[in-house]
Amino acid sequence: MVATGWTMTENASLLGLNTFHVQAHAARLLEIQDSAQLPDALALPEVTAGELLVLGSGSNVLLAGDVDATVLVFANQGIEILEHRADHTIVRAAAGVNWHKLVLWSLQHGLSGLENLALIPGTCGASPIQNIGAYGVQVGEFIQTVEAWDREANDWVRLDNEQCAFGYRDSVFKQQPERYLITAIELRLPLLHELRMDYAGIAEELQSQGVELPSAVDVANAVIAIRSRKLPDPNALGNAGSFFKNPILTVDQVEVLQQTFPDLPVYPAEREDQRKVSAAWMIEHCGWKGFREGDAGVAESHALVLVNHGTATGAELLALARRISASVLETFSVAIEPEPRLIGAQW
Ligand code: FAD
Ligand code: EPU
Repeated sequence: MVATGWTMTENASLLGLNTFHVQAHAARLLEIQDSAQLPDALALPEVTAGELLVLGSGSNVLLAGDVDATVLVFANQGIEILEHRADHTIVRAAAGVNWHKLVLWSLQHGLSGLENLALIPGTCGASPIQNIGAYGVQVGEFIQTVEAWDREANDWVRLDNEQCAFGYRDSVFKQQPERYLITAIELRLPLLHELRMDYAGIAEELQSQGVELPSAVDVANAVIAIRSRKLPDPNALGNAGSFFKNPILTVDQVEVLQQTFPDLPVYPAEREDQRKVSAAWMIEHCGWKGFREGDAGVAESHALVLVNHGTATGAELLALARRISASVLETFSVAIEPEPRLIGAQW
């Protein structure tokens, strides 16, 4: 069914809507081109009758099977400058805009801040959900406002940065996954910005490229080069990026672990008395890197990335994830948790 502002398809394949490339169908797919029409589309009887699941590009989900729900996808587009000030610019991006496209657009417009977040797959609408982060930067540092339809209040809301409750791979949206349908984000991008090159690999990459006085574009190019080497391209090999979050432990727990595993990489966490430890290192230590059984496996280039070599099902990928987490628990006494949203299964 086609109406102004949205399109509805019954029994729709989700193969192209999840980067694991798992075969699954949705009872119906509702694509929103014009977010102003969202309340009307949500009021359709076939939508109100069942459950609703929002997807962006499906780069952070694992579909355990068919989805007996209306899958809502934002296809609304548009990037605009809302305000130019002496020290910053406010930029608005519609939920359906590809995230990397926004990063490139900001750099082309002389704005900095997002360079370390280059090449992260997915949509702008999904970027606040897990507060996307890479190379020492998280999107929550720049988000000023998130515009959303609040399904609890049945009304439009504009959440400011504090209300978003951003944390490591966390936000109010992740905590209340059924509540908010994000239609746009507004970012405050500084004009004068100190480039962040302290994350391992960036300075070395810039040096190897012969860059002496790096610009934001140079940092983005360095990040793109590192990512392209380490992370499999989902178009070539199905994956959802890091399958596990890096666990956060107390300083005391880390000290005990380091007595047995002195090489375990340890990073600062948001709280002074906590540290983040490398899940990739622990998984590699347990021997999983490059493992494959059937079509479900672990990437050869990165131990944190589960991959679908062809026709692995969501259930097979999930079973492998459980085996990996059990062996990490046994070896390190550390529980690791999935980063992607599991759809149709519980962890
Ligand atoms: P989806 O996977 O479709 O959805 C993710 C979650 O957001 C779901 O819960 C969904 O319901 C919800 N959601 C999506 N859109 C909306 C909306 N408009 N309103 C409300 N809820 C919504 N992530 C990082 O943080 N850092 C990385 O470096 C990184 N690297 C990656 C590398 C690869 C190769 C891959 C495949 C993934 C990587 N990811 C990374 C994960 C992923 O790119 C991000 O989580 C991204 O933000 C997901 O966007 P999406 O549009 O694909 O969302
Ligand atoms: N490492 C290993 N084996 C591996 C890979 C990494 O031992 O196979 C160790 C190395 O010591 C390495 C360290 O882990 O120095 C950290 O690796 P990396 O820099 O690749 O970072 P990560 O902690 O594995 C996190 C994010 C990524 C993000 C990168 C870069 C999480 C769960 N993952 O990965 O995000 O791109 O940092 O900032 O926080 C994602 O969320 O999907 C994602 C890809």
